[in-house]
Amino acid sequence: MKTLLLLTVLLWGGTRAQDTDYDDYDADANKTSSNNTVGVDARGHRPLNRGREVYSTNRYNPPPISSGSRYRGRPGTGTSTTGTVEQQKVEQPESGGCTHAMEEMGVLCPNGCELKTMLQKQERNVRNSVGELRPQVDDLSRNSNNIFKYVNSMSSNLRERQTVLNENNNVVGQYTDRVEEQHVYIKESVDTLLPSNIRVLQSVLEKIRQKILKLEKALQKQKEACQEPCTSKCPIPVVSGKECEEVFRRGGVDSQMYLVRSDPLLPPYRVYCDQTTEQGGWLLIQNRLDGSVDFGRRWDDYRRGFGNIAFDVGKGRCEKPGEYWLGNDRVSQITKVGPTELLVEMEDWTGAKVYARYQQFTVQSEASNYVLAVDLYSGTAGNGLLEGSMELFGINRTMTIHNGMMFSTYDRDNDNWNPGDPSKQCAREDGGGWWYNRCHSANPNGRYYMGGAYSRGMTRHGTDDGVVWMNWKGSWYSLKAISMKIRPFFQSR
Ligand SMILES: *[C@@H]1O[C@H](CO)[C@@H](O)[C@H](O)[C@H]1NC(C)=O
Ligand SMILES: *[C@@H]1O[C@H](CO)[C@@H](O)[C@H](O)[C@H]1NC(C)=O
Ligand SMILES: *[C@@H]1O[C@H](CO)[C@@H](O)[C@H](O)[C@H]1NC(C)=O
Repeated sequence: MKTLLLLTVLLWGGTRAQDTDYDDYDADANKTSSNNTVGVDARGHRPLNRGREVYSTNRYNPPPISSGSRYRGRPGTGTSTTGTVEQQKVEQPESGGCTHAMEEMGVLCPNGCELKTMLQKQERNVRNSVGELRPQVDDLSRNSNNIFKYVNSMSSNLRERQTVLNENNNVVGQYTDRVEEQHVYIKESVDTLLPSNIRVLQSVLEKIRQKILKLEKALQKQKEACQEPCTSKCPIPVVSGKECEEVFRRGGVDSQMYLVRSDPLLPPYRVYCDQTTEQGGWLLIQNRLDGSVDFGRRWDDYRRGFGNIAFDVGKGRCEKPGEYWLGNDRVSQITKVGPTELLVEMEDWTGAKVYARYQQFTVQSEASNYVLAVDLYSGTAGNGLLEGSMELFGINRTMTIHNGMMFSTYDRDNDNWNPGDPSKQCAREDGGGWWYNRCHSANPNGRYYMGGAYSRGMTRHGTDDGVVWMNWKGSWYSLKAISMKIRPFFQSR
C-alpha cells in the first residue's frame, strides 16, 4: 500500500506544472517593504507614491486599425537373537540320592554309626551355633522389626510420593496437554495462516510488480515516441489556409487543429481553429483551461509561442485544444493583413461564462514591442482592455487600461510603471507576459489557481497575479478558463 501511495505521489508530482525560475531572482525585498504595496489592496493598479512619481496616462498612442476588408460575409453553418548354549546335567541313575562330594568319583553312602556320631558332633556344634545365633536372631528380629517399620514407613512414604507424583503427573499431563494443544495451534497457524498471509503478501507484491512493469512499458513507449520530435500524433487535415476563416471557407468546418500559412514567405504552423462558435473561422491565439502549461516565460517564448496546440481524445484527430500562446510574431503578422476581430471567452469555477469581443484588434511587430490596439467592444465580461477596471477610479483606473500598451515579460520591461526602474515591473509580479500598463485590469496569462478564489498570502508578491478579469470577478478570483480567438473582421451575412 505504501508503495502504491508513493508511486501515486511520484506520478502526481511529475505531472504538476513546473514553477519557473523567472521570479526567484527578484528577492529584492524592497518591493514588499515599500509603501506601494503595504496595506494597500493591489487590485491591478500600483498607486502613485505621491509627490515622487509621475504617471503619464498613455505613453503610446494606439496605432491605427488597419482598414480594408479581406472577406465578405458568409452564410452561417452551423498478490537380534544370540545362539543359546544349554549345559546338559550328567545323570547318575543308581545313586539313590547319595553322591560323592565330587560327582566324578561316583556314589558313596555313609553307615548308621558313622551317621550317629557325626550327627551328635554336629548337634553340639549346632547347639553352640544356635546359642550364638540366638542373640543374633533376636537382634535381627529386632532389627528386622525396625527395618519392617522403616520399610513400612518407606512404603507409605513411597505411596505418598506416588500419589504426589501421580498428582504431579496429572498436572504435568495437563500441562503437557495444554502445551500440546498450543503446539497444535501454533503448528496449524504456521501451516495455514502464515502461508495464507504470505500468499496474500505475495499476490500484493505480484500486483505491484505488474504495475511497475506496466509503468515501465508505458515509459518505454513514451521514450520511443519522443525520439521523434514530441508533436501531436493526430493527422493534420488536408485542408489548409491563411487562417481559420479561410480553412472554414475551404471546407474545414470541424473544430480541430489545422495547419495554416499566414505568410507565404514563412513556414506553415499548427493552430487550433474554433469553427463552431459564432459561425466559426476563429483562430485560437491564447488558451488557459487547466494550468498544465507554465505562462511565466521569457520574451523569446512569447515571441515564438509555446504550449500544446491540441490533443487527440480518441477520435483520430486533434479536437481538444491545449493551453498555449500562439506567439506574438504570428499574431502580429495576421492582424496586419487586414481588419481582425478578437473574441475573449472566459469561464469561472461554477461553469458560468462571459465574453468580451473587440471588432478591431491589432498587434504591432517586435520592433515596436507588439503594441496592442483594440476597439469596438461588445460583450458580458466588461471592457477592461479599453476602459480599465471599473472598481477603480480616476488615474488608478487609467493605470489598468491595456489598449496602447507594449508587451512586457519578466525579462523585458515595457510597462508603464516607473519605466526604467527594475524593481517596478508588472510582468515580474503578475505572473505572465502581457500588455501591462501599471499594471492590469485583465491578466489572462497570470498564474493558474485551482478553485478560483485566492488571496494575497497565496501569491508570490502580494499582487493579484491570477488569471484575472477584474471587470467580471474582481482581482482575487482566478478564472477556470479563458481563451483569445481572432478572425478576419467581416460583416456577417
Ligand atoms: C533595495 O535593495 C537594494 C539591494 O537589496 C538596497 O541596496 C537598497 O538600499 C534597497 N532600497 C530600499 C529602499 O530598501
Ligand atoms: C513610505 O515609507 C517611508 C520610509 O519607509 C515613510 O517615511 C513614509 O511615511 C511611507 N509613506 C507612506 C505613505 O506610508
Ligand atoms: C487610488 O488608489 C489609492 C490606493 O489604492 C487611493 O489611496 C487613492 O485614493 C486612489 N485614487 C483615486 C482617484 O481613487
